[in-house]
Amino acid sequence: MMSSDQNVFGKKLYIESYGCAMNFSDSEIVASILTASGYATTRNEEEAQVVLINTCSIRDNAELRVRNRLNHFNVRKRKQPGLVVGILGCMAERLKSTLLEEEKIVDLVVGPDAYRDLPLLIEQVEGGQKAVNVLLSREETYAEINPVRLDNSGVTSFVSIMRGCDNMCSFCVVPFTRGRERSRDPETIVHEVKYLFEQGYREVTLLGQNVDSYRWNITKKGEIIEPGKSTVNFAQLLELVALVSPQIRVRFSTSHPKDMVDEVLHTMARHHNICKYIHLPVQSGSSSVLERMNRGYSREWYLDRIAAIRRIMPDCAISTDIITGFCGETEAEHAETASLMREVGYEFAYMFKYSERPKTLAERKFKDDIPEAIKQQRLEEIIQIQHESSHQRNIQAVGKVFEVLIEGNSKKSDKSLHGRNSQNQVVVFERGNHQKGTYVNVKITACTSATLIGEVV
Ligand code: 5AD
Ligand code: SF4
Repeated sequence: MMSSDQNVFGKKLYIESYGCAMNFSDSEIVASILTASGYATTRNEEEAQVVLINTCSIRDNAELRVRNRLNHFNVRKRKQPGLVVGILGCMAERLKSTLLEEEKIVDLVVGPDAYRDLPLLIEQVEGGQKAVNVLLSREETYAEINPVRLDNSGVTSFVSIMRGCDNMCSFCVVPFTRGRERSRDPETIVHEVKYLFEQGYREVTLLGQNVDSYRWNITKKGEIIEPGKSTVNFAQLLELVALVSPQIRVRFSTSHPKDMVDEVLHTMARHHNICKYIHLPVQSGSSSVLERMNRGYSREWYLDRIAAIRRIMPDCAISTDIITGFCGETEAEHAETASLMREVGYEFAYMFKYSERPKTLAERKFKDDIPEAIKQQRLEEIIQIQHESSHQRNIQAVGKVFEVLIEGNSKKSDKSLHGRNSQNQVVVFERGNHQKGTYVNVKITACTSATLIGEVV
């Protein structure tokens, strides 16, 4: 990795990321591509000649946030006319060149599959032109690019294993912004994880929009692409990564209830270092809403998957995503979501009000007919249920001993350290002589609704 000190003559690049983990991971690929052509990354936007904003389109408010940031850079650009401002990611893909026309300060618009083109596009901007590349690809996985780690914790890292999404959930803009689903060569994934381990990293999170449909050398229909070469499915990939070292933890995100097979659960159960935590977005507890969402499963199917997790890994934590106020959602349908939440007892949930996105199936087929106030009221109701559920889960952890990977100082005091247990719960404890990047056994003595508090045993 090149530090800014080694690159005194190079230009400085500042990247800001919004949205999902995949976007943060993509920014590290962008940093790698631009570092290779002589840029140095900086955390200080004031000293940058190139500012890139990696954007999210998932909900309307995500896009609003970016537009506000652009206003901020607009002020800077008046003081520093040579400043290059570029939009990357999902908003770039969704809005394409209209961003150049509407947002007068944007010089550069680059979609998620066109990052290899960035050095050339920036040159073009420096030559006085605007530059756009929003071509989506069926092959691009940035497989061999070794990302420049931007978060700097040095302990945990994301590793992208696939790109795009073929699911077509009716509410979701992702298939339009990130294109067709494709998997990354497993050899390059294992190579990246080995490299991270040698650099001192002790946890990787394998990323994909739907990790359960990861497949290498095999088509969706199950036909082998290159006979004589081995095939790899997600369970097998998980195992390959877990075998890099028993000292490196493996997490993954996101699973899809319609594709999550028991083979993955058995692989998780077999390996101590595959964390006992699954993020399994349900979106709604009502089968009729799930049908309108085009999710490909029913409430019963989802609950069967939860039962499989509990059967195969009784100590596994489960989290979810939920949308309130989707098109036509009745009080009874909403009540089914509430009852499912109580039945599952999630450790954690990300909860959202439905936000209509242009071009999606839902926008074309249904009316966004639930009033904002009702969306909000339903959201508050499920947030309350989740709050109680998280608290309950934390109370159940008190008295137990967990293996915790230390990630660094606690936010509140330098006398304390924080880390997470396999179940992804945050654990805070006294520093002692312990170092980040090592494992300790911590006995939980107390908790809040968000954090476990304990002592090293
Ligand atoms: N409105 C609200 N929430 C959405 N999500 C995706 N699309 C929308 C939308 N149009 C949520 C889903 C998904 C998470 C990443 O964002 O819950 O799982
Ligand atoms: Fe946002 Fe979805 Fe794009 Fe991630 S993939 S940045 S969540 S729109």
